[in-house]
Parts: sequence; structure tokens; C-alpha cells
Amino acid sequence: MARFTLPRDLYHGKGALENLKSLKGKKAVIVVGGGAMKRNGFLQQAEDYLKAAGMETMIIDGVEPDPSVTTVMNGAQKMLEFEPDWIVAMGGGSPIDAAKAMWIKYEYPECTFEDMCKVFGIPELRKKAQFCAIPSTSGTATEVTAFSIITDYDKGIKYPIADFEITPDVAIVDPALAETMPQKLTAHTGMDAITHAVEAYVSTANCDYTDPLALHAIKMIQADLVKSYNGDMECRARMHNAQCLAGMAFSNALLGIVHSMAHKTGAAFEKYGAHIIHGAANAMYLPKVIAFNAKDETAAKRYGVIADEMGLGGATTEEKVKNLIAYLRKMNDDLNIPHCIKNYGADSYPTEQGFVPEEVFLEKLPEIAKNAIGDACTGSNPRQPSQEEMEKLLKCCYYDTEVDF
Ligand SMILES: NC(=O)c1ccc[n+]([C@@H]2O[C@H](COP(=O)([O-])OP(=O)(O)OC[C@H]3O[C@@H](n4cnc5c(N)ncnc54)[C@H](O)[C@@H]3O)[C@@H](O)[C@H]2O)c1
Ligand SMILES: [Zn+2]
Repeated sequence: MARFTLPRDLYHGKGALENLKSLKGKKAVIVVGGGAMKRNGFLQQAEDYLKAAGMETMIIDGVEPDPSVTTVMNGAQKMLEFEPDWIVAMGGGSPIDAAKAMWIKYEYPECTFEDMCKVFGIPELRKKAQFCAIPSTSGTATEVTAFSIITDYDKGIKYPIADFEITPDVAIVDPALAETMPQKLTAHTGMDAITHAVEAYVSTANCDYTDPLALHAIKMIQADLVKSYNGDMECRARMHNAQCLAGMAFSNALLGIVHSMAHKTGAAFEKYGAHIIHGAANAMYLPKVIAFNAKDETAAKRYGVIADEMGLGGATTEEKVKNLIAYLRKMNDDLNIPHCIKNYGADSYPTEQGFVPEEVFLEKLPEIAKNAIGDACTGSNPRQPSQEEMEKLLKCCYYDTEVDF
């Protein structure tokens, strides 16, 4: 028996933001990030539409990229004071994810962060508020997913909160919001999206409901991502839909160890200059994980189907898997994303010597591998890695060496 859950309503297409007018309630809190929504006028528009719907509004702004537990707790406190019946989260994955976690704390003030992290253990929400999500990046698809990723900076670890309770009630997928994305953000979020679709397709929880969404998203991203990166706004608009379809797939089919590794490396090297940005981490690790997972016969066949759908050629499954890996690596080149952590520069562009020193990586490796194995995304990966295999795989992701085990 399985469950397939999506938002009750999804508005899409240019101008879809206006559908905020149709929300029914008294008070709406709007949660946004660092200022992109304000600068580009979308925050004002959202406020105006909510006011037109007869609602009083309050803004929680300044949610940082890869939001912290502290940000979540502070935001929830503001919600407890304001008592909204709608939470409208607008921006990239970070403010929307933070708002989802604030929502839990708002409905259950006694709930701790540890409680939230119990997979599929969130109590029933919507006693106080409903949730509307409006993405401005084309990647995380958090507007349709049952996930929220919050970082514990004391531990340097990202924790996924996972429960269909936090799947939003309404998603507004308006491509106008994504038009202002700079190139680097377009590249990273786009590679996040294709990783979602590929991991969902080979996940052990894949099903007839998720497969078509994943495959269609992959083909759209293949056609549109690099063009969107190079400034084609029609392709940018299609990418906004494609990433959302990928989200519908992975929210229900779950993910795999590319995400486990990205979650556990993202903030691990914080002291050495920068995050490894989520989408860039996925882009670097995906080809390595495909090679690792392809030792599992079922997964290999499924990668073969992906390669066929993408028209990559190859006579045998092995050839198809190789072609898929080569294609994804070429996408990284086209998008100016490095192939490995060693070459990951502080600005996230490829460089000879990146910001993570080899000795630091090796020292932290056993711990990162252990944490990655324990990540919520590992359970649905088609091949379960041992500690030794995970360490070897992470080394391949550091040095860009071949996965032959
Ligand atoms: N919940 C999920 O299902 C899920 C899935 C994948 C990733 N994530 C998480 O989402 C986060 C990443 O989200 P993201 O990649 O969307 O980026 P983000 O929300 O962290 O934003 C990155 C930067 O882009 C800016 N920005 C956002 N939209 C913009 C626009 N339209 N124009 C110009 N600038 C803009 C933001 O202000 C910010 O500075 C990570 O924490 C990741 O772990 C969540
Ligand atoms: Zn992701």
C-alpha cells in the first residue's frame, strides 16, 4: 500500500500569483528570504493581493539560504503572536522550507526540532493555518513536497523534515518570479531538479504514479536547462514547471544517496569558507552515485530507460548508463559547475584547488559517511552502501575518480 499526496490546488503560468486573491481567511503571514522578492516587487504584489482578499498581513523576512533552527524558532514565535490562518511562503527553497518548519512549531509550540525530525512523525497540522507556497527558484519544488530541510549549524548538518502533513495546501508556480534568477542560481537549482527526477525514478519507492512525472521532468530539463541558463526566458518558464513535476515525483517516490551526501557535506566545511551549495553538490555527486547504484541490476535497467527517453543511444544497459553519466557531466560543464569537491571554488565555480583542503576532507570523511548513511534519503536508495563503500564513494566525489566498486 502506498500514498500519493500533492497540494489541493496548483496555479501555474505567468500571472498565477494573482490567485492569492482567492485565498479565504483573516490573517496571512508572508515569509520571504533575503530581499529578492522585495527588490523585484513580488512581495508588494503578494501583499496587495492578500489585502484584496480581505486579509491582514504580516511579513517575516530575512530567512537566510539553508535556514537554521534559530530562524525557524524565531519565526514561529512571531506567528504565535500574530495568529495567522494562512502562511504564504515565497522565494527559494530556503524561506519556503523555513516557513514549513515554523508552521509545525506554530501549531505545536511544545514541539522541539528533534521531534520534527522524526520521519513521518509530524502531528496533524491545519488546526491553526493553511499553507501556500510560491517558488522563485526552479529546483527544490518544495511548493509541492512533503519535505523541509533545516540546518543545525552547531552540528554542521542538514536535517530533512519529512511528512505529508507539511505538503502545502496551495502551490503557485508563476514563472515571472524565476526570471530574475542569476545564472549560477539557475544552474544549481536546475541540477537539483534533474537529481530529484533521476533519484525518484530509481528509488525503491517508485511507482506508476511517480514514474511518468519523473521521466517527463527529465526530458524537459534536458531540453530547457542549458538554454534557460543562457537567458532564454521561454525555457526558463518551462524549467519552472519541470522542476515542479520532478518534485511531485520525488515527494512521493522519495530520493536517494545523492541527497544524503549533499545534506551531510553542505554545511560540513562551513569553517573553510563556504557552503557546498545544494544543487552544486547534487550535480557533482549524481554521476558518481549512478555508477555506484548501477551495480544493482534493477537500478541499472531504470537508468537505461532514462537514457533511452533522453535519446542518448547505447546498445546495452552498460553503455546506456555510461552515456547517461557522460551526458550529466557535460551538463555540469555547460553550466560551469565543477565535477568534484576538490575543484569546488569558494564562489562555487570550478577551480584547480577548491576551498575544502584534502586533509580536512579526509579527517571528516568517516563522520560524514556515517551521517550520510543515517540520512532519511538513504532508505529508498536502490543500493544500500556500507560505511566503507560510502567513504569510497565520497572520496570519488572529492577527487573525481572512477567508481569501480
Ligand atoms: N523541501 C524540499 O523538498 C527541498 C528539496 C531540495 C532542496 N531543498 C533545500 O532548499 C534550499 C535551497 O533552495 P534554493 O536552491 O531554492 O535557494 P535559496 O532559497 O537558498 O536561495 C538562494 C539565493 O537565491 C536568491 N533568490 C531566490 N530567488 C531568486 C530570484 N528569483 N531572483 C534572484 N535571486 C533569487 C535568494 O535570495 C538567496 O540569496 C536548501 O536548503 C536545500 O537543502 C529543499
Ligand atoms: Zn534537492
